[in-house]
Amino acid sequence: MDDQEIVERLMAEMTLAEKIGQLNLLAAGEGLVTGAAQHTPLARRLDAGQAGAIFGTKSLESARAMQERALAGSRLGIPLFFAEDVIHGHRTVFPLNIALACSWDLDLIEETAAFAAAEAASEGLHQVFAPMIDVSRDARWGRVAESPGEDPLLSARIAAAATRGFQGAELGAPGKVAACLKHFVAYGAPQSGRDYDNVSLAWEDLLSIYLPPFAAGITEGAGSVMVAFNAVNKMPMHANGALIEGWLRGAAGFDGLVVSDYTGVKELTPHGLGAAPVGVARALHAGVDMDMVGEDYLSHLPTLVRDGLEAPEAGLSLSADQVAGLVDRACRRVLTFKARLGLLADPYRGLSGVPAAPSRRDGRKLARKAAARSAVLLKNDDLLPLSSSAKVALVGPFAADRANMLGTWSVSGRAEDVVPLDSAVEALTGRAPVVAWGADIVDEPWLAQRLNVHGVTVESDPRSETEKLRDARAAARASDVVVACVGEAKEHAGESSSLLAPEIPASQRRLIDALAETGTPLVVVVFAGRPLALGTLSDQADALLYAWHGGIAGPEGVADILFGAAVPAGRLAVSLPAHPGEVPLSYDADPTGRPFPGTFAKFRTGWLDLSDDVKRFPFGFGLGYGKMHYGSPELSMTEAAAGQGVQLRLSVENAGPGEVVETVQLYASDPVARVVRPGRFLIDFKQVRLSAGERREVVFDIFADQFRYPIAPTLEAVEWVRDPGVVRLHVGPNSRDTSSVELTWQT
Ligand code: BGC
Repeated sequence: MDDQEIVERLMAEMTLAEKIGQLNLLAAGEGLVTGAAQHTPLARRLDAGQAGAIFGTKSLESARAMQERALAGSRLGIPLFFAEDVIHGHRTVFPLNIALACSWDLDLIEETAAFAAAEAASEGLHQVFAPMIDVSRDARWGRVAESPGEDPLLSARIAAAATRGFQGAELGAPGKVAACLKHFVAYGAPQSGRDYDNVSLAWEDLLSIYLPPFAAGITEGAGSVMVAFNAVNKMPMHANGALIEGWLRGAAGFDGLVVSDYTGVKELTPHGLGAAPVGVARALHAGVDMDMVGEDYLSHLPTLVRDGLEAPEAGLSLSADQVAGLVDRACRRVLTFKARLGLLADPYRGLSGVPAAPSRRDGRKLARKAAARSAVLLKNDDLLPLSSSAKVALVGPFAADRANMLGTWSVSGRAEDVVPLDSAVEALTGRAPVVAWGADIVDEPWLAQRLNVHGVTVESDPRSETEKLRDARAAARASDVVVACVGEAKEHAGESSSLLAPEIPASQRRLIDALAETGTPLVVVVFAGRPLALGTLSDQADALLYAWHGGIAGPEGVADILFGAAVPAGRLAVSLPAHPGEVPLSYDADPTGRPFPGTFAKFRTGWLDLSDDVKRFPFGFGLGYGKMHYGSPELSMTEAAAGQGVQLRLSVENAGPGEVVETVQLYASDPVARVVRPGRFLIDFKQVRLSAGERREVVFDIFADQFRYPIAPTLEAVEWVRDPGVVRLHVGPNSRDTSSVELTWQT
């Protein structure tokens, strides 16, 4: 019998209650099902066949025990599947997703996802709530930390790479897990950067900025999708049939499982879409197959199937038969997902005879490489790499930190696994650095307290600021070089951690001032979960490394770069603002009408109170230890018809003494179009490794489809178009410093 036949046979035999039970997705919580905990609420659900899946189990044994209990409680022997938030690694915590995105290294991203999958699968997990692929351009939003950054093309390639890494060639393969693309959709564009807030945007922007990563994950075969908390253009995503059943399943051809986010169905009520039975009907109708944690499907679907629903105030009318049909649709999708995971053929699939976890030592190696590849060198006035004989002072609250290095959403990581920067430097150089605290992570006690509630202990030093700074200065003066380790706490960034003004906290800025005054060469390393506005810090530092929260080997990766054991190769996946008020910020902003050439300079976009000379680091920016020369780009033809293959070639040369990993970036612009188009947009990139003195030719294929764009007065009337005429191609080491050529599409 093939999968679909098994599913249909089960569907024919299942009662309504059994079908509704399959739609219930529960958290393991304290719900262990053996021994003294036998009568937990979760155990009662399993006994009654009222759970389709569980997330958050912490071991193979507990997952297996839950499966046994579920099978005993299921008349037809339908197994659970097990899921977990494996966002940037599982036990082996890799750099934050935003950091990994800065590697622009798709093989590396695939490898980290594959490693995380192998660890997760060894513990009985079948699905991960990842990859998180919300494009984000607003540093105020705390979940930038989990995001692939601001660019749709880079994010789409990352979505595909991570999906491949998690799932392998097919769903259900041993040592692999199903991916869950999240959060569908535009969760990364909330009003004013406030988490969960709603989103209003042009359909064109939705189609060309926020949806491409989902399309890429679906093309790669992602098994599931999680719906976002926010509304898009007035319709909460948990009730957004036009986007779920319409775009996702229709236009994008997704045929997997759609799960709600945590209590997302229940939250339709405060969204203003009606009390429970109405919200439940809307979510199910919109295509949300499983209800995470809230149990609203479980509570309300039996009555809805019996009575149907007349809710004229919500514009909803469903007969009892229609609701029953929707329950069948959702249940069939849950069962199909289980069949694809191999669970209907073998209910203990993934729970017995599973491949052992990969070696932690290999994981550490990969995590260290990933950390070094993710850090972005923003400035280097001939100071780095440091000599291992240099006398180094590490100053600042992150100099010996472990817990914060894990970053947000590292639910299965342990701070003990982190090698802090002071130990990493000592191990690498054979010389213990001087360490001074210098400044607290946050200035205000109430903020420290709020962060503690979010699950991180923000350490502080009870001494006065004067004493702390005196120590910091003394450490700097007594050393050849001082490394200021500044930034934000792990839970400064993350879910429900929006910041009004995302910048280096004031006490740490005062620390930088104090260190700069000493005259000792100053390296600043920023450990953060979001792009923090750097203000004047980049002028004060002689070298500046943006290291994010780099996971268990984050500080070791930083040490490798500082002392030349690894080459810096990171390139910003998000623009770094100079001032926190500049966000949202992205390199691909639409052009405006002002300043109009020749008119009064006063009438322009921009801020009156922000100088034009501020230093912001553009998308794609990052330095290496080499010296790169870019040759002029040349086209194989300057006029082409739509079907013709065009090539853009240029030579790149590393004129420096050390190896370079260069990311050659190709942008385009479409100066005359039917609607406003971005000033420029990334269309391709290539990573090349160049040894000292090496020169290479880099070739990009250009094709007409790269210039298609949507016209979308409504979501139902989308037209993808492409126009003949001139386009510009811009190639360079980042989104700002490029050389351009023109190509004319004849057709
Ligand atoms: C988050 C999701 C996560 C879920 C389960 C929610 O609060 O938005 O990203 O997968 O919780 O932990």
